[in-house]
Amino acid sequence: MGRRVAHTGFGVLLLLQSCAAYRLVCYYTSWSQYREGAGSCFPDAIDPFLCTHVIYSFANISHDEIDTWEWNDVTLYDTLNALKTRNPALKTLLSVGGWNFGSQRFSRMASNAQSRRTFIKSVPLFLRTYGFDGLDLAWLDAGRNDKQHLTTLVKEMKAEFAKEAPQQAERLLLSAAVPAGKVALDRGYDVRQLARHLDFISLMTYDFHGAWRRSTGHPSPLFRGQGGASADRFSNADYAVGYVLRLGVPAQKLLMGIPTFGRSFTLASSEMGVGAPSSGPGIPGQFTKETGILAYYEICAFLGGASVHRLPDQQVPYATKGNQWVGYDDQDSVKTKVQYLRNRQLAGAMVWALDLDDFQGTFCGQNQHFPLTNAIKDALAAA
Ligand SMILES: *[C@@H]1O[C@H](CO)[C@@H](O)[C@H](O)[C@H]1NC(C)=O
Repeated sequence: MGRRVAHTGFGVLLLLQSCAAYRLVCYYTSWSQYREGAGSCFPDAIDPFLCTHVIYSFANISHDEIDTWEWNDVTLYDTLNALKTRNPALKTLLSVGGWNFGSQRFSRMASNAQSRRTFIKSVPLFLRTYGFDGLDLAWLDAGRNDKQHLTTLVKEMKAEFAKEAPQQAERLLLSAAVPAGKVALDRGYDVRQLARHLDFISLMTYDFHGAWRRSTGHPSPLFRGQGGASADRFSNADYAVGYVLRLGVPAQKLLMGIPTFGRSFTLASSEMGVGAPSSGPGIPGQFTKETGILAYYEICAFLGGASVHRLPDQQVPYATKGNQWVGYDDQDSVKTKVQYLRNRQLAGAMVWALDLDDFQGTFCGQNQHFPLTNAIKDALAAA
């Protein structure tokens, strides 16, 4: 009897703990399969116990219906969703949209009641067919005229999910990613209304600064810088999170984005600090092959022979070598960010993206797969 009571108490404790558990929502990008050699990433590289949610990006919208993007998406969907046989608690979502998708087709679909209906109707069957637990909307550049339509789309999608949920299955989840820049956010997103219908909302707190500006600056500072170009008060995660909370998004639905990539610059002079003149984006990484961006595993390789500096005000590192400058996150800065989001009592962290972390565990010398995402996971789990 006493034993039994003790057990029940323990069960309640576990339940309470799992209610308080943080979300760790991690994106996987299908185009990472095409990176050469050690950079090529398929969903079977993902540790099924690393994140609470994995989001597959991206899906297309074709003739107003959700559709695949890559020729082999269906195979990769299966590989991803097979992770749930090893961890049944893992949730997977399919993200529709993205940067290359553009706003126009989203706009056209969402602004027309008939098209919207067609799209919404197409989603549950598609998700159930391939074994996803939900939909993520990545309408990343909604304009002034889209604001109301996006809200309507989210509201109607949620209603459809509620109606669709069969007795035995859980309701499909609905989330969205939104920009963290104040101008873009104000223009296209009624975040307070969106949050009413979404299960969670991910703030992309990692594109505050990049080679589109003519001087160096960190892409994802936690706090405002003390001087120079980094001093504008809006371009940091702290401001964005505080702003979105003030707009009325409940903390328990808000995820703070943490990047597993850095943004790089080519220096134009011998100045090497924050705010140093830049002549353009940094040279492409060996695997990601895109100017101005480096995966964390490429940054680990870059750090050999580089000099690393920490920005005490912004709480993030940058590194320089020759005429290259990169602002990024490391295990220390992500821990600080997790501490911050815990203090703010947010729902958890969003990671962009698993395939940009050292998923092989061979680049960063820590003999650990996903060192950054694991550091986030550990910091979320810490007592
Ligand atoms: C997405 O859908 C549009 C509209 O049908 C189509 O033109 C485009 O080729 C599709 N994109 C991909 C990558 O399949």
